[in-house]
Amino acid sequence: MKYIVANWKSNKTSIEVKEWLEAVRKANVGPPSATEIILCPSFLHLALIKKELEIQPLAFSLKLGAQNLSPYPEGTYTGEVAARMLAEWIEYVILGHSERRQYFKETNHEIKLKVAQALKYNLIPIVAFSELSQVETAAQGLEEKVLEKILFMYEPPEAISRQEGPIGVGQAAPLEQILTMIRKVKELMPQNQVLYGGSVKSDNLALYWQEPEIDGVVAGTASLNPEEFIKMITHAKTQT
Ligand code: PGA
Repeated sequence: MKYIVANWKSNKTSIEVKEWLEAVRKANVGPPSATEIILCPSFLHLALIKKELEIQPLAFSLKLGAQNLSPYPEGTYTGEVAARMLAEWIEYVILGHSERRQYFKETNHEIKLKVAQALKYNLIPIVAFSELSQVETAAQGLEEKVLEKILFMYEPPEAISRQEGPIGVGQAAPLEQILTMIRKVKELMPQNQVLYGGSVKSDNLALYWQEPEIDGVVAGTASLNPEEFIKMITHAKTQT
């Protein structure tokens, strides 16, 4: 299985969400087989999107993910969204994104707690990292069978695009750098899949997609634009 993850970050009103879904539905295209497309909108839009997809499905099965969850169980944690609450709506959850580490001072310890919560409720964690040590910490103490469920995503912070223009502006990491890092992770954890994210767009997706060692891509700003998202899916198809 390969993955295309759309990380919407902190964007879109409900009207814009509906417009995006409508544009993707109208395009009537799908990804290649054995490809999982995962949309990670804000918490706020998960229920809306799930219901819209039930009423009017797309040409392919769009999976839902969150961009974060509470490190704590359900309970007296004002403002938090717990894994048990999310499990009703999603299958995946991005954890430890560099923007959360940078702006919200998220620590490795908190990320480990979040991974544990996600796994407890059968959510697949997509754990972001920029250094090997972050992968090692996230994996520490997990049994092999549990560990192999985690999808890792390599995202060097300097490669993440700025939200400018219709598809963002940024410099993706060099392919060699990505492959070197992915090989290091797979040496430690041969069972785990590793994705790449950082300025992925329709015009460079093929570069990563054709590499058998890269298990998929994560697109942030570019995925906000439905035409660009459709192109990414289509480009993956022509590469397979
Ligand atoms: P980008 O973001 O595609 O806009 O660079 C990727 C991410 O931060 O997940």
